[in-house]
Amino acid sequence: MTKIAPSILAADFARLKEEIEEVDKGGAEYIHIDVMDGHFVPNITIGPLIVEAVRPHTEKVLDVHLMIENPDQYIETFAKAGADIISVHVEACPHLHRTIELIKQSGKKAGVVLNPATPVQSILPILKEVDLVLFMTVNPGFGGQAFIPEVMDKVKELRSIIDEKAYHAEIEIDGGVNEKTARLCVEAGADVLVAGSAIYSQKDRARAIEAIRG
Ligand code: DX5
Ligand code: ZN
Repeated sequence: MTKIAPSILAADFARLKEEIEEVDKGGAEYIHIDVMDGHFVPNITIGPLIVEAVRPHTEKVLDVHLMIENPDQYIETFAKAGADIISVHVEACPHLHRTIELIKQSGKKAGVVLNPATPVQSILPILKEVDLVLFMTVNPGFGGQAFIPEVMDKVKELRSIIDEKAYHAEIEIDGGVNEKTARLCVEAGADVLVAGSAIYSQKDRARAIEAIRG
C-alpha cells in the first residue's frame, strides 16, 4: 500500500496540534516537515523547535526534509528534537557519504533528496546505505507548485535499480502531488507520496488522504 505523508507546510500554523492530529487520525503514515533556511532555497520555514513541539502529539513517523546548507551542523539537533527520518539534498552535501553516516550515527533513518535536474547517478554510490530517496517534482522552496512529470523517468530508473539489487530504500515523491499526479507516481514505482496543499486545502483530511492513496 502506498504511504501518504502530509506536508504541514500547508497547514494552519496557529493550530498546528489539531492539524497534525487530523492527518494522524485520517490515516497518514508519515508527517512531512519542510525545513528551509533562506539560503539553499528562497524561503524560511520550520526549525528544530517546531519538530520538538510536534513530537508529543503524534506517534507517526516524522519525516524531516532539510532544505538547508551545511546540514551536518544540524543533524544532531533534529535527531534530538524527535525526527525519525532525516533527509538531505544531494546538491547541499559535498561529502554526502559522511552526511549519511552522521544521520545513521544519530540513530535515525537517512534519506537523500534530488532536485528535478539532479540525475539518479549522483546517488548510486550511497544507495545501499540510505533508507529513503526523495524525488522533488517541483523546485523546492514553496508549496502549491505544479508537478513536473519528466521526473517520473528518474523514478522508474531508480525503481528498477532498487529492485534488481534488492536494496531497502523507499522511494518518496514531493511536490504537486494530488489525486491525479499520484497515479503517475505509483505507476513509476513510488512507495511514499508527500502532499501539502492537496490535503490541507480539503476540509475532510481523511478523505483527501485516501483519494491520493487511490
Ligand atoms: C517544497 C516542499 C514540499 C511542499 C509540497 O519545497 O518540499 O514538501 O510542502 O507542497 P505541495 O504538495 O503543495 O506541492
Ligand atoms: Zn518536502
